[in-house]
Amino acid sequence: MHIETYDQLSEQVATLVAQQIATEPDCCLGLPTGQTPIGTYKLLSTWSREGRLNWSKVRCFALDDYLDVPPALSFHTFLSEHLYQHTNIDAGNIFHPGMTDNYDALIEGQGGLAMTVLGIGGNGHIAFNEPGTQFLSWTHCTWLDDSTRKANQASFGASRPPQKAVTMGVKTILSSRRIVLMASGEKKKAIVEAAFRGPVSRQVPASYLQEHEGLEVLTDFGFSLTR
Ligand code: GLP
Repeated sequence: MHIETYDQLSEQVATLVAQQIATEPDCCLGLPTGQTPIGTYKLLSTWSREGRLNWSKVRCFALDDYLDVPPALSFHTFLSEHLYQHTNIDAGNIFHPGMTDNYDALIEGQGGLAMTVLGIGGNGHIAFNEPGTQFLSWTHCTWLDDSTRKANQASFGASRPPQKAVTMGVKTILSSRRIVLMASGEKKKAIVEAAFRGPVSRQVPASYLQEHEGLEVLTDFGFSLTR
């Protein structure tokens, strides 16, 4: 499918997730937050309400979350509102990195990630793996870059965005059998090209994905990559 618009991008990613669930009804999914996946979640929610998707055995893992924020502003709540509450997912199959001290063991114990959907931050972060994050990184707490806090300011109104977060690490994400990275808008074109046409570099954590055999990069600005 040639993708030219955000709606087409959202539909393509939602279709990949729906196909993954249909193929492997008890799969483990890694799920992102932010503005980019909202259209995807809207479609998945609609299809779920129409009974076209069965989440009863699916296990969902949030990529990351803020630390020290009111529950209403957490990524766990974001995913509940944008997706989980519109599906028949079992509450016991919803996981997030703030719920345990060993998220990686939890993921491994559930069978590992079958598919992880990612966005990309303006500074090349994936989940909250900020520039400088080592390749050999597992789930960890991190200080957020100023640019990341600025980019997420809208979610916090007049309050200052959090300084700290907990995130799946680079190795946690790379352990996923399939990775679908989605990016929307000309503003993300340069960082996507740097990540996938430039060198693998700690300064652009998304570039670590270049080596992943099950990678798909989908955008609405003419860049795509399938490995
Ligand atoms: C946040 C999230 C990332 C997300 C990024 C981009 O930092 N931790 O998972 O990919 O923002 O967000 P957006 O899609 O709003 O540009």
